[in-house]
Amino acid sequence: MSKTQIIILDYGSQYTQLLARRVRDLNVYAEVVSHNINASSIKDYKDLKGIILSGGPSSVYDYGSYDIDDKIFKLGFPILGVCYGMQLIAQKLGGKVDLAEIQEFGKSSLTITDENSVLLRNIKNNSQVWMSHADHIVEIPTNFNIVGKSESSIAVIENKIDNIFGIQFHAEVTHSTQGNEIIGNFLFNVCGCDKDWTMKQFIDEKLQEIKSIIKNEKVILGLSGGVDSSVCAALLSKAIGKQLTCIFVDTGLLRKDEAQKVMNNYSNFSMNIKLINASDRFFNALKGVSDPEEKRKIIGHNFVEVFNEEAIKLEGAAFLAQGTIYPDVIESSSDGHTSKTIKSHHNVGGLPKELKFKLIEPIRNLFKDEVRRVGKELGIQDFILNRHPFPGPGLGIRIIGEVSREKADILREVDDIFINKLIEKKLYNKVSQAFATITPVKTVGVMGDNRTYDYLVALRSVDSIDFMTATASELPWEFLTEVTNEIINNVKGVNRVVYDVTSKPPGTIEWE
Ligand code: XMP
Repeated sequence: MSKTQIIILDYGSQYTQLLARRVRDLNVYAEVVSHNINASSIKDYKDLKGIILSGGPSSVYDYGSYDIDDKIFKLGFPILGVCYGMQLIAQKLGGKVDLAEIQEFGKSSLTITDENSVLLRNIKNNSQVWMSHADHIVEIPTNFNIVGKSESSIAVIENKIDNIFGIQFHAEVTHSTQGNEIIGNFLFNVCGCDKDWTMKQFIDEKLQEIKSIIKNEKVILGLSGGVDSSVCAALLSKAIGKQLTCIFVDTGLLRKDEAQKVMNNYSNFSMNIKLINASDRFFNALKGVSDPEEKRKIIGHNFVEVFNEEAIKLEGAAFLAQGTIYPDVIESSSDGHTSKTIKSHHNVGGLPKELKFKLIEPIRNLFKDEVRRVGKELGIQDFILNRHPFPGPGLGIRIIGEVSREKADILREVDDIFINKLIEKKLYNKVSQAFATITPVKTVGVMGDNRTYDYLVALRSVDSIDFMTATASELPWEFLTEVTNEIINNVKGVNRVVYDVTSKPPGTIEWE
């Protein structure tokens, strides 16, 4: 496995994951660990070259704020503290941190005050840095130098004897224009890291690892058609071929031609893939049910049942593969300061508890963009790699109220026209998630000389970073009118289209 050369102690900043990504983008494998880690556990990282302390929302002088095991400073690894991390270093090593009179949020400029700084080597004077701090350092510890200042605070400190550094700004955000170079200086000039983290190397190592774990056993995997399960399947199939069986359940609540498209995507892969048409079962189970949470439960429950039935038929499968990715791992192992509400609905098709499988999660160390890069190397089609998220319960929560096959068929057509038009007008990759919803409302319209009384559908498109908050995409008016006409002229049963401009909060992305 790739060497973990850098660990990032998480002090709760919203940018902690971004720090890990920046380090990995520089081809060095970094892992996020809890701030609670102690010095002896750090010694277990055999290839470790350096430690980064992330930012965080608290004040280092607050009672009960996140701390660091003092012995970590004695291990001899270079340390870089970012924002809270820098203030923690200052406070722990004998300096002083206090509430700043002038607090800095957003853009600031970095004045280099020591040309011999290692961390700021080749960094331009007055380059833009991004600040977000209420506290600042008022006294630096012994053996430290101030090598950079912002407009109103100490911005960079350096202790060349012990290789301990601190930056007040967030080098990990793109608004810090030379942030990558500063992180690079720490990785390569201070820690001496090797550039050995590439997707190609990841794949080569992973294939060996999978082979050595699975040996001659069989593996089962639930394919959803999304990026994560697709890449997971492709990796496994490359490693163990026909020992892998993928189960793809058509719930009747998939998008237009989805089952066929997903199956076609795998035609070049060597694996067993079983498409199970379970739509009758899902529509029957959903008859008469209109409560969103009830629908989610029914869909989730039936999914697991279908999956179980198929798994039992496949004799002798010892492993269950899952497309868990790194943000899922971090979130589920966090100490409770990240919201888990969204994750709970992602469990549709989760681990069937009654089955005694060993679990294999080949992409659990990857960020989403790394998953996409691996997928690309493995030959997965772009339409799968770049598609918007699709909820586990599928169209079941986009048919408001009671679900029926008739409404699912109408919705598939509407959604398909909307999505294809976004692709055609080169808007699909600019928005984060777009889809259509069908309401139980019927409205009066006129077509030709005839009165119509048909369904109202809603189009929704949002821009979002993490899907926890979102704003409605400002799609061009001509686009919206064109797509509305196309829907009404082509989809029988629909005579009115609205566009949802609600942000999240107060709305959610899905309507149910
Ligand atoms: P909301 O509607 O909560 O959606 O703002 C946030 C993101 O989660 C997706 N979503 C789900 N995904 N099962 C899933 O796997 C669900 O039950 C579910 N509900 C919402 C939604 O599409 C958006 O990307």
